[in-house]
Amino acid sequence: MTARVVLLPGDGIGAEVTEAARQVLVAAARKFDVAITLDPQLVGGHAIDEVGDPLPAETVAACESADAVLLGAVGGPKWEGPTAKVRPEAGLLGLRRGLELFANLRPVKAYPELAAVSPLKSERLAGVDLVFVRELTGGIYFGQPKFIEDTPTGRRGVDTLEYAEHEIRRIARIAFELAGKRRNKVTSVDKANVLMSSRLWRKVVDEVATEHPGVVVEHRLVDSTAMRLVTHPQDFDVIVAENMFGDILSDEAAVFPGSLGLLPSASLGAAGPGLYEPVHGSAPDIAGKGIANPIGAILSAAMLLRHSLHQEEAAAAIERAVDAVIANGARTVDLGGELGTSAVTDLVLAQLG
Ligand code: NAD
Ligand code: IPM
Ligand code: MN
Repeated sequence: MTARVVLLPGDGIGAEVTEAARQVLVAAARKFDVAITLDPQLVGGHAIDEVGDPLPAETVAACESADAVLLGAVGGPKWEGPTAKVRPEAGLLGLRRGLELFANLRPVKAYPELAAVSPLKSERLAGVDLVFVRELTGGIYFGQPKFIEDTPTGRRGVDTLEYAEHEIRRIARIAFELAGKRRNKVTSVDKANVLMSSRLWRKVVDEVATEHPGVVVEHRLVDSTAMRLVTHPQDFDVIVAENMFGDILSDEAAVFPGSLGLLPSASLGAAGPGLYEPVHGSAPDIAGKGIANPIGAILSAAMLLRHSLHQEEAAAAIERAVDAVIANGARTVDLGGELGTSAVTDLVLAQLG
């Protein structure tokens, strides 16, 4: 059986890091005898430029029938003007929602060799190893109504934050199952002191907790969690959060390894293809310079092999290769070094053998 992987390089450094991840994916597949074909498609700003739509029907069809999707990043100043009718980000959000990828896994660990790069003290970083389980298809990102309107007293912008019980239950279950395979702790993040959707969130998480007596659950408010994450990062195992809280906290956690460019993610649904992408965006400030850190994208390819293609050995081999490259001192610019994207990719390929 040949697995079909759709490649969505997207915009800015998206294309640069996706090319790196593609090379590593192909090398790992060859080494472990995994048959894959790659199908590049348009998404984001590039898709707007070429066909006037950030998520062309052809891309959707290709993704729906694929085994997995590997995405770089979308967005950039070119498509951000106040008169822009469609935004690149709509392509990504449409894909997540269209494929019902409600569970976004964002693992974060601190590398001992990179402790000096992180602004946190190294004793706070030792052993930091956590996973965000971010709800990805609901909450304020998608709630309706959503609009800007003119009123007699000026313009008004509206977003809607709502969660249905089943949306909370299914993401909570993912978090508890994952914690059961790790250190048996779930931290559920909410704003239950203010938001009704959070009060329901807390109740449903507690109900799911009764299905997992071996897992300890703690509830934390999002504001103090933002602080506690950087004061006590070692206390966290699995963090489950609604869409926007998970978005914000996961970028904050990039300070543990020292760069956003290192973080991978997997977006999974109940069935169908998974979507794999680094946590970072299109980084317009460094796009086109060949200096983007490719590791977040490369580790996303490892997650693709693990979760969608069920190739644990190949996934673990990529992760070991990345660990070795970092341990050997390879550093891109974001980590205080001088290596470019392709130099680091070549080192990972060499480690992979
Ligand atoms: P960003 O993640 O693109 O960049 C934030 C900072 O981190 C920048 O200084 C950037 O240079 C640095 N950085 C990010 N990735 C890096 C890497 N691999 N190597 C080295 N440095 C890296 O966030 P932003 O600047 O706020 O957003 C830029 C655009 O990206 C926006 O249009 C936003 O909507 C989009 N975005 C897309 C995604 C996605 O496609 N999944 C995610 C986040 C942001
Ligand atoms: C991310 C990004 C996206 C999000 C944007 C680009 C829509 O920030 O994947 O974290 O907010 O989910
Ligand atoms: Mn984000």
